[in-house]
Amino acid sequence: MDSLVSQNLRVEVFDKVEPDPSVETVEEGAKVAKKCAVDVVIGLGGGSPMDAAKAIALLMTNKGSITDYFGTDKVKEPAIPVIAIPTTAGTGSEVTKYAVVTDRKKILKQIIGSFHISPVLAILDPVLTLSMPASLTANTGADALSHAVEGYVSTQSTPVGDILALKSISLIAESLPEAISQPGNLKIREKMLFASMLAGLVINSAGAGIIHGMGYFITLHYGAPHGLANALLMPEVMEFNLVANPGKYKNIAEAMGKKVEGLSENEAARLSVVAMREFLQKIGIPKNMKEIGVKEESLAGFAKTVSKNERLLTLNPRRPTREEIEEIYRNSM
Ligand SMILES: [Fe+2]
Repeated sequence: MDSLVSQNLRVEVFDKVEPDPSVETVEEGAKVAKKCAVDVVIGLGGGSPMDAAKAIALLMTNKGSITDYFGTDKVKEPAIPVIAIPTTAGTGSEVTKYAVVTDRKKILKQIIGSFHISPVLAILDPVLTLSMPASLTANTGADALSHAVEGYVSTQSTPVGDILALKSISLIAESLPEAISQPGNLKIREKMLFASMLAGLVINSAGAGIIHGMGYFITLHYGAPHGLANALLMPEVMEFNLVANPGKYKNIAEAMGKKVEGLSENEAARLSVVAMREFLQKIGIPKNMKEIGVKEESLAGFAKTVSKNERLLTLNPRRPTREEIEEIYRNSM
């Protein structure tokens, strides 16, 4: 605020954004922004404040409710400029066209996907991530890893994105445990922030898959932070997906430090799941969903809703049936 005010800019602070921001919060933010006739929205924080900033900026130039823009390419007019400043290394939202807004009435996480809401500027300063406690570092880092993995194997992956994804995976595999054991090490925090941004660029073009689609329900119904929910599902989803693209899963295993020489492609691909399990354990992720209180009886309902998420099912390298989604949930218990 001081640096902006010193340049004779008027600043209003909206600090009511909760984790997994709701429709109501975004609309309240937009009301404040309209009252002050703001020219720019700065999203400072983790994924939630940055996504809320994008959604608020959208409502400055587009009529109606934020719920009108749920989906892909529904935004008609460019939002007012958004500057994104991440304080976690995980979401990559600072470089993406996505804003995730929670519809608490329908109990759904809704995605707004439009280049009209992409930030015009991202400022990555690892100093801002130094104060993250270990669990937040682990959960948000696991989210970044899930972006790199899901984007890399997505049916819409691109050759350029693939390079970024593998770089992101190897950076996270080497730096995240150190970011937890040496929280004050700025060089390591910088690597994580860079890796998270790379993974954001990957999903920006390739999209995510069912790790995200399934994880949303663990967050909505059990309050698990987004990255933790993804981490708990990641090994089993990889296990299910790997037959669809063993070559890429082999590369993931290698990027995570496994030796694959002399192995068949399928053997090497399976090593990616082993590497992921070992890695998640190393960064302190609970062993399974049961440990965080997820109940067996809710899984069939979640699977039913996920099986209707056409967008994410299409992006996933192997298309699962409702029964298979339920089985992946059960195997993650
Ligand atoms: Fe994510």
